[in-house]
Amino acid sequence: MTNQEQNLPLPVSRRQFLKNSSLAAVSAATVASFPAILNAQTKPPLNAIIIGMGGRGTGAGGNFLEAAKAAGVEAKIVAVADIFPGPTDKAKENFAVPTNKCFSGFDAYLKALEVPGVNYVIIATPPGFRPGIFTAAVAAGKNIFTEKPVAVDGPGARIMYAAGEEAKKKGLKVVAGTQRRHHAGYIETIKRIHEGAIGDVTGMRAYWVNGGPIWHRGTKGATDLEQQINNWYHYIWLCGDHCVEQHVHNIDVCNWVANATPVKAWGLGARQMLGNQTGEIWDNFAFEFEYANGVRVHSYTGQIKRDFSSVSEAVVGTKGTSNPAGSIKPTTGAAWRFTGKITDPYVQEHIDLINAIVQDKEINETKTVTDSTLTAIMGREAAYSGSVVEWDDMLNSKFAYGPELLYTNPSKLTWGAFRTLKSPLPGSHDIFKDGVVLPTV
Ligand SMILES: NC(=O)c1ccc[n+]([C@@H]2O[C@H](COP(=O)([O-])OP(=O)(O)OC[C@H]3O[C@@H](n4cnc5c(N)ncnc54)[C@H](O)[C@@H]3O)[C@@H](O)[C@H]2O)c1
Repeated sequence: MTNQEQNLPLPVSRRQFLKNSSLAAVSAATVASFPAILNAQTKPPLNAIIIGMGGRGTGAGGNFLEAAKAAGVEAKIVAVADIFPGPTDKAKENFAVPTNKCFSGFDAYLKALEVPGVNYVIIATPPGFRPGIFTAAVAAGKNIFTEKPVAVDGPGARIMYAAGEEAKKKGLKVVAGTQRRHHAGYIETIKRIHEGAIGDVTGMRAYWVNGGPIWHRGTKGATDLEQQINNWYHYIWLCGDHCVEQHVHNIDVCNWVANATPVKAWGLGARQMLGNQTGEIWDNFAFEFEYANGVRVHSYTGQIKRDFSSVSEAVVGTKGTSNPAGSIKPTTGAAWRFTGKITDPYVQEHIDLINAIVQDKEINETKTVTDSTLTAIMGREAAYSGSVVEWDDMLNSKFAYGPELLYTNPSKLTWGAFRTLKSPLPGSHDIFKDGVVLPTV
């Protein structure tokens, strides 16, 4: 899934990371972006754990070590947790984590959180587990790097907002995997848009088209639930559908430019090419989001094979247009293009988090990532239901896609049977009926 982060410099591949794992080869740009005030003698060592040791968990672990090395901060990965035992073997191999600190099972994250000295938690599980695990990490008083998206429905988003506030009260630092917010080109361009470089913003467009058909890991798994977690991208309660799972990046850029969340959405889409494959998600969507000031975003997302492909955003204003990744075209005067240094944003996000920890500066991205996650969920529910969906209804929605324990205490889940949902059909899908809550396992 990391293959579609266009508009961004390529992340360090796992192979590349392993090749560099002496970590001697940190780019000059990375080093340069670290403030001189950091001093290896006075900095506490960072002891990280990774929860969810798949592709991104492994990648983020490497990005964290690279960022720490650049900062001259002593850092190691002291424990890992995955629901399955297989992925944790990668931790022994890649990060020299001792066998007795590689935990598996539903409660693995709690065991890793209890390892003495942990002060940095990387959460890279499927999104459905995010609210419960994030809340546990906050309760344990840890600084957190959390992957996006952070919820799959209204109840999950409310848990994230509350945990984010709690983290703030405790002075914990939180960075989210919406890495465009740590990309120098986006940061400078959006700053200029906010300063009026294209006048008043009148409209935006966001693309995640066409990601290509998504993976399926076969029917491996002794129980329905095991099979579903192996194939988490095909189930709404685990991934939120691809418009939430992937397109959240582009929606996040629009919310950042607008400095707001939309007040309503409408949308359409279909399960067109996934056909009879197991799972319930759709494979293409088109949304229209509207902000309180009347500005609209047209947004398109697909995990489908088509010739046209783009992962990007565009902004239109009264005095020009912009690709917020790094260019501005005013209606009069010279165009501008970002030419500064761009540190790999997958590394930069950890640099920013480490900086905040070491210098005790506030950073807490829980609200912005939850806002963008909920925006994507609102678009999805508008498309699923065929109705206009308003922000407040989405935010207050009682409908939980997952089993109750997913939200309250995922460590207590067991490998029992779990429902499958029919792929939503407009006209018959309505999560806003009073009191509708799916059965629990
Ligand atoms: N920011 C980005 O650009 C970016 C890129 C890729 C992935 N991601 C995000 O990272 C997350 C993971 O994606 P991935 O590609 O690594 O998927 P993956 O399937 O490769 O890895 C997920 C891992 O989580 C484990 N897991 C599942 N449930 C768990 C639980 N309850 N406790 C502990 N471990 C559990 C799985 O066994 C698996 O090893 C997703 O939310 C995805 O959106 C972000």
